[in-house]
Amino acid sequence: PKTLIEPFRIKSVEPIRMTTAAERARLLEEARLNVFKLRAEDVLIDWLTDSGTGAMSARQWGAIMEGDESYAGARSFFRLEKVIQDITGMQYFVPTHQGRAAEKVLFTAVCKQGDLVPNNCHFDTTRGNLEYLGVEALDLVEAVGLQPATIAPFKGNIDLARAEEVLKKEGQRIPFGMLTVTNNTGGGQPVSMANIRAYAQLLKKYGKPFIMDVCRFAENAMFIKMREPGYENTSIKAIAQEMFSYADGATMSAKKDGMVNIGGFIVLRSDEWLDEVRSDLIMMEGFPTYGGMAGRDLEALAVGLEEGLDEDYLRYRLRTAEYLGEKLDAAGVGFVRPTGGHAVYIDAKSVLPNMSVEHYPAWALCNALYLEGGIRGVEIGSVMFGKRLQDGSETYHSMELVRLAFPRRMYTQSHFDYAAEVIAEVRQKADHIRGVKIIKQPKFLRHFTCECAWV
Ligand code: F0G
Repeated sequence: PKTLIEPFRIKSVEPIRMTTAAERARLLEEARLNVFKLRAEDVLIDWLTDSGTGAMSARQWGAIMEGDESYAGARSFFRLEKVIQDITGMQYFVPTHQGRAAEKVLFTAVCKQGDLVPNNCHFDTTRGNLEYLGVEALDLVEAVGLQPATIAPFKGNIDLARAEEVLKKEGQRIPFGMLTVTNNTGGGQPVSMANIRAYAQLLKKYGKPFIMDVCRFAENAMFIKMREPGYENTSIKAIAQEMFSYADGATMSAKKDGMVNIGGFIVLRSDEWLDEVRSDLIMMEGFPTYGGMAGRDLEALAVGLEEGLDEDYLRYRLRTAEYLGEKLDAAGVGFVRPTGGHAVYIDAKSVLPNMSVEHYPAWALCNALYLEGGIRGVEIGSVMFGKRLQDGSETYHSMELVRLAFPRRMYTQSHFDYAAEVIAEVRQKADHIRGVKIIKQPKFLRHFTCECAWV
């Protein structure tokens, strides 16, 4: 049989509240045509994010009962520390409540105003945390990583030639180099082991530490196993260990490949920055043996990190995105190719070629998916990245994408079949999809709270 089944069975369920098209039309109006303002229970399939939204396993729920909630020196800290030391090969583990807190603590300890940090692509919070400290966040992904229709195995790779140029010219401003695996902002695309190794060597040549953003390191490791010659027979854990072996430190949002609903950490190879990091941690998050997490959450993560490296799970996980991609292809809907690890990014311009960018085609498509089938995705286009200027004019983003990000171990194949049907139907009715105008918006991050009206 060819079907790749979900490698789990379901022990506990959460009902989905069914809604009608008429109800959804009313609910979306009440939400001012902004899906962020919907109540989650009014959504049938919630693909807003894969972050912290997945299902925990029976083993994780069991581990939760073992949580040691002692303020200092809790058993749960040492249990998780051992798991993290084993996977990363790094000695110093610093727990935080989620990924952006790990970034904030590390950057505050290490960066200063006027610095520059190169990366393939910084995630929004990484960029935000750096820019807040007056640090320039420079994206250096290879050119192919910005071409949605071009198929290549490792579109998350950093451009090594440009990275070297920057290291040569701006060396004194660079506290460390970063690399995000997988590259979320660039479509959830993986980075090859060869690229990780070469970038590490380059940073070493210029005397710079190497910090990885490893939210989706297990998905990246699976892509390496499937696509990079020489790794076909290597275990996922060994691939992950090799990835980490090139780095001097990492920041992690455990809400992704840690398979938990909350959590994150910093891990460091040397103790050079440790005192500074831990004193910032105490100010911002908590005592070093719990950081921003409860003891029970440390336990769930210790189990989740191991489950996230399971090969059958990862094969099914990556296949899920690919499967939806095949169905979209058959329906003539464009998307970022190849599909990434955690999400499918629909190219809204392929569905709405005649809609002017002033009417926000990706936002319009996002709304249409909710109206037609109760699916919630997220716009990655000109509402998210465009700006209204002083004179009332607007800047627009180069791409109009709708990201459908998949919570881990949560939705079954029939949910994906249903979603594919909804998307195909929306495409059929594309001529009737209405664009929007923004009638109220805040100064920053307007997509979260803006209010819209139909045009
Ligand atoms: N780095 C990357 C690559 C991410 O994708 C995220 C979160 C973070 C850091 C921050 O982690 O949310 O735990 O503070 N990405 C989520 C998303 C929010 O929807 O892509 P966090």
